Amino acid sequence: MKRKISVLAAVLLAFGLAACGNNNSQVSADATQNMQIESSVETENTNNTEEAEQTVTSEDASNATDEMVEDTSSEATESSEEDGGTLVVYFSATGTTKGVAEKIAGITGADTYEIKAAQEYTDADLNWNDSSSRSTKEQNDSSARPEIGSDAVSLDGYTTIYIGYPIWWGEEPRIMDTFVESYSFDGITMIPFCTSSSSGIGRSGQNLADNAGTGTWLDGKRFGAGTSEDEIRSWIEGLQ
Ligand SMILES: Cc1cc2nc3c(=O)[nH]c(=O)nc-3n(C[C@H](O)[C@H](O)[C@H](O)COP(=O)(O)O)c2cc1C
Repeated sequence: MKRKISVLAAVLLAFGLAACGNNNSQVSADATQNMQIESSVETENTNNTEEAEQTVTSEDASNATDEMVEDTSSEATESSEEDGGTLVVYFSATGTTKGVAEKIAGITGADTYEIKAAQEYTDADLNWNDSSSRSTKEQNDSSARPEIGSDAVSLDGYTTIYIGYPIWWGEEPRIMDTFVESYSFDGITMIPFCTSSSSGIGRSGQNLADNAGTGTWLDGKRFGAGTSEDEIRSWIEGLQ
């Protein structure tokens, strides 16, 4: 238990220091505050039971920038349904969101589509301690729209789309805005989900809905790196 709290404190310190060194970023300040709030709540949960949701693990914190996961599945797989189909769209820089996306697809029988950046994010790009790293600069510019490299996906036949991403400085990565501005979601129920070290989903789902301008957007859900399939299944069942 002491070790978990120590690790947690270390991560908060890391994000806190990064935010301090990034004075021109309201996003950073908001993210740090969110992380602190979320973390204190989740520490209490962990105190209640050792089986409580794993939140900030040392692996999650230290590997966020060095676990680039290679994945060649950039295109949606064949739709298995003629109508009422479900698609899971996701962006994942280090594999955590991808894991949740695959669980959602397994539970719902959905197809998947991975948003890949035309210019892949390197470890240096993902360094939140560097105020001039690519991700920091993009998150500090709400008009940034990184190019998508994966082939376009046809949304024909889909009536439900789960849309997932990591939280970056409290918000959605800007490439998610590129995606939602590239498609019409008319007649489609959009369900955001995200992963993070500790921050909540914040305003990211609303940002996506606003930038998309189409689709019926539900409230989103944040998951941690160690989220179980049962927890994801309960969330999905609660949506219906
Ligand atoms: C540039 C950057 C910024 C991040 N900002 C936050 C944050 O504000 N709050 C938080 O809890 N986690 C933050 N994280 C951690 C990620 O949200 C977390 O590791 C996520 O699960 C990674 O998902 P992925 O593996 O699918 O990319 C950040 C990570 C990166 C690389």
